[in-house]
Amino acid sequence: MKKYALIIHGGCGALSQFSEKEQKAFLKSLEKVIKRGERFLQKGEKALDVVEKCVKLLEDDPIFNAGKGSVLNEEGEVEMDASIMCGKTMNTGAVAGVKSAKNPITVARRIMEKTSHVFLIGEGAEKFIRKEKIERKPASYFILPHRVAQLKKVKKEGIVLLDHDDNKKNTKLGTVGAVAYDIYGDLAAATSTGGMSNKMIGRIGDSALIGCGNFADNKSAGVSCTGRGEDFIKAALSRRIADLVELKGYKAKKASKKATQYFKERVNGYGGFIMIDRKGNIGEGLTTEGLIRAYVKQGKKPVCKLFK
Ligand code: GLY
Repeated sequence: MKKYALIIHGGCGALSQFSEKEQKAFLKSLEKVIKRGERFLQKGEKALDVVEKCVKLLEDDPIFNAGKGSVLNEEGEVEMDASIMCGKTMNTGAVAGVKSAKNPITVARRIMEKTSHVFLIGEGAEKFIRKEKIERKPASYFILPHRVAQLKKVKKEGIVLLDHDDNKKNTKLGTVGAVAYDIYGDLAAATSTGGMSNKMIGRIGDSALIGCGNFADNKSAGVSCTGRGEDFIKAALSRRIADLVELKGYKAKKASKKATQYFKERVNGYGGFIMIDRKGNIGEGLTTEGLIRAYVKQGKKPVCKLFK
């Protein structure tokens, strides 16, 4: 069997605040997705298809902050962001501020494949979703009671809350993402999020921004980030991680370590990332207490982890 690798995440933050039962639920969901993702890779599916499929599964799981169960903006609505990138071709698609697509990651992929553009937002994106007949859902599908309660709480406190803020009590968490290295030696990355609770209307985070929260290039690495989007944008972190591999020649582990240091030192970055380098080595970094992630490599058992 040829070499392959897959890593997925479901967000980061102060994970010890969650009960044992809740932590088990995260691990269970990750395990299901990583096992399915591995089967796709074993069957010879391409990295691009695998990352889209894994992210769709995570978007459909309401325990994560993406797709169903996304956090709410200041008006109590969802505005979801997503992006996908193919490391072989460097083709990419991104979408931001969408309210109706069941799977924003599929919208990003369709933008990549069906338009001459890379990035659509808001109304234009909604028009494209309708034109392409991409599956839509009413607001009631996305807006769940725990998110309404979370918004009420953060509004009272007068803050904009990361779905998994360090020192605030939360109910749910998790931008989601996946990076794959397929049996053909190609990389791909996909990331999807509801953003931050009580965010301003029109706020876009890093998940939709190529080179910030998501990136893939066969010459360097595939990366997906989670955390305070503004920090990842300032640091252009996913591109930086890829550059550490390509320009410095670092392997996944060293590139991850250096990027984490930079993220903390330069922008006091709050978050984590997953990556696979051009040779299929897996890496990760976090400045938060935990990062909900799972990974698998050819010939090895899947590993699901919440903490460092
Ligand atoms: N990392 C997700 C966001 O800030 O929107």
